[in-house]
Amino acid sequence: MDFDGWLFERLDAVKRDGLYRTLRKQETALKNKGEKIWASNDYLGLSKDERLITAAQTALNCFGAGSSGSRLTTGNTFWHETLEQTIADFKQTEAALLFSSGYLANIGVLASLPQKGDVILSDQLNHASIVDGCRLSKAETIVYRHIDMADLEEKLASVQSRNRRFIVTDGVFSMDGTIAPLDRIMALAKQYQAFVIADDAHATGVLGENGGGTSEYFGVCPDVVIGTLSKAVGTEGGFAAGSNIFIDFLLNHARTFIFQTALPPAICAAAHTAFDIISDMYDTRRELLSSVKTIKTRLADMGFTVRGGDTPIIAVIIGDAKTAVSVAALLEKKGICAPAIRPPSVPDGESRIRLTVTADRSLQDIDGLTEAFDSIRKELNINK
Ligand SMILES: Cc1ncc(COP(=O)(O)O)c(C=O)c1O
Repeated sequence: MDFDGWLFERLDAVKRDGLYRTLRKQETALKNKGEKIWASNDYLGLSKDERLITAAQTALNCFGAGSSGSRLTTGNTFWHETLEQTIADFKQTEAALLFSSGYLANIGVLASLPQKGDVILSDQLNHASIVDGCRLSKAETIVYRHIDMADLEEKLASVQSRNRRFIVTDGVFSMDGTIAPLDRIMALAKQYQAFVIADDAHATGVLGENGGGTSEYFGVCPDVVIGTLSKAVGTEGGFAAGSNIFIDFLLNHARTFIFQTALPPAICAAAHTAFDIISDMYDTRRELLSSVKTIKTRLADMGFTVRGGDTPIIAVIIGDAKTAVSVAALLEKKGICAPAIRPPSVPDGESRIRLTVTADRSLQDIDGLTEAFDSIRKELNINK
């Protein structure tokens, strides 16, 4: 069989399982006004904030469109260093290091930190970038049941003879909206002498009084905090935060930092402005979480299985992939963008509509969303 024929067969199998993916083009911010997007990770609406755009434009004029090299060669600027200090202050750590994405931050940390003879205990529902980082590590990875502290403790107890133990967890789980019990994880880590790595991609800007993330929410300090600038921060890029020596270690060992072109300075300037704004968005955070509660209650009353903690992510579990795709298509017809999430992003039989609530959603939008779910439920005979 020729090359394309072989790939055609592989894609055909994906299509038969209802798992075929295609790209969906978004219009510009202005043109998009008609459609309600209920799937964006831009929780605080900062990606289109004039203050961020102006900050990026000013830096663009000074530094140009690209950074021209890795941070260790020609790509390091005032804006990279300023943003790292801002992130460290925001996360209340000694230092921080930028990566080109949250994905690369997880890979960089997990592939360089745990060593052969160590063990990584990883939550079952951790993000793909954590899974891939664990795969690249020379340490053994043991998966514990999702936020199951009894299982984590049992597994920690069984690996006491290993050199070192690392617990790695999403702060807020991207596909379920659940919150990792970081206070209990830290207590177990202390008891069983383990280090904790928390990926706060979806919690940064949203959880905690100041938006500091799961560490602020629980009042704890994990050894390593990972994050992304691409969700509530409204820009692009990732970071790791922790002690000075940890950041120095990463700068010398993390391959996704060393061998990667630095982020454009204009993006760093915009992200720096975003952190300034985020700290003051107390009311926005409160209103956002109140909208989440309203939507969850209404959908649960209709008989939907709804998952998630006090976070902007709501998982509406549909079950099989094809029905989830039909629900998403009907939502789209009603002017609501909320794509179906299917395996391998979620386990088999747990395909879902992953809703996210953003700060610009009105009560009228919420009515429109829940009415759409109600009519689709009747049309497709779901929850009977
Ligand atoms: C929990 C988690 N970690 C990391 C990432 C990757 O972040 P980025 O999009 O900046 O690569 C994501 C993004 O989808 C995520 O949900």
